[in-house]
Amino acid sequence: MTAALASEGLSVSFGSLHAVSGVDLVLPAGARHALIGPNGAGKTTFVSLLTGALAPDRGRVRLHGEDITRASVPARVKRGLGRTFQVTSLFPEMTAFEAVALALAERDGLTWRCLRPLARRGRRDEAAEILGRLGALPQAGRPLGTLAYGQQRVMEIALALAGRPRVLLLDEPAAGVPAGESTRLFEVLETLPADLALLFIEHDMHLVRRFARTVTVMAGGAVLAEGSPAEVAADPAVREAYLGRRRA
Ligand SMILES: Nc1ncnc2c1ncn2[C@@H]1O[C@H](COP(=O)(O)OP(=O)(O)O)[C@@H](O)[C@H]1O
Ligand SMILES: [Mg+2]
Repeated sequence: MTAALASEGLSVSFGSLHAVSGVDLVLPAGARHALIGPNGAGKTTFVSLLTGALAPDRGRVRLHGEDITRASVPARVKRGLGRTFQVTSLFPEMTAFEAVALALAERDGLTWRCLRPLARRGRRDEAAEILGRLGALPQAGRPLGTLAYGQQRVMEIALALAGRPRVLLLDEPAAGVPAGESTRLFEVLETLPADLALLFIEHDMHLVRRFARTVTVMAGGAVLAEGSPAEVAADPAVREAYLGRRRA
């Protein structure tokens, strides 16, 4: 079966620093895949290569088999590669409902100048469906700027879902979210469509063990280990590179 998303030998250097070197990663449809590793391991850089924010020096990215290595960020989004943007701080007065409806309108090819179709029934229903699925309807009418930090992160996921992604990439979705709320945020992720391929970067091993089915461990720009959460947690090289350093 064709992978939803795959990287082959993906590499990029910043000067003499090999930030990402030769990373192969395969995400099947329905993946719940965590990317972990110590600070500076190259996780964010790798995700930027997948989204198209950065161009690789070597290697390929395939989305449903199609080579998208040189495709622009918007072209990848259009083909179903979703990611979150920290937009809640950019539009603090906009309500979540308005923001999701606007994202839906944009997906459907409408420009900012013709906002009337925003009010169209189908799009309102779809915005409510997305927000409802994430348990965010109670906050939907409130300005984004007034929401708690964790709720803002959920709204960013709602905005990403408006693009109907088949693959979703999340770089530390719970970063900065109070400890009590981060589990709730991951419970929201569990409600995502079963066939959506999800790759998330996460530091908290409790969250990784609970929510990931597969884990890739990066260190020094390369893949150190891959397997189930239990397998990688038991791997001596991983303990040395990641868990050991975290305790220090
Ligand atoms: N734009 C950049 N220019 C130069 N060095 C960078 C840039 N982005 C990241 N790096 C470096 O690349 C390495 C990997 O960074 P990053 O991908 O952010 O790691 P992680 O997300 O795993 O913490 C780090 O040493 C970081 O300092
Ligand atoms: Mg990072």
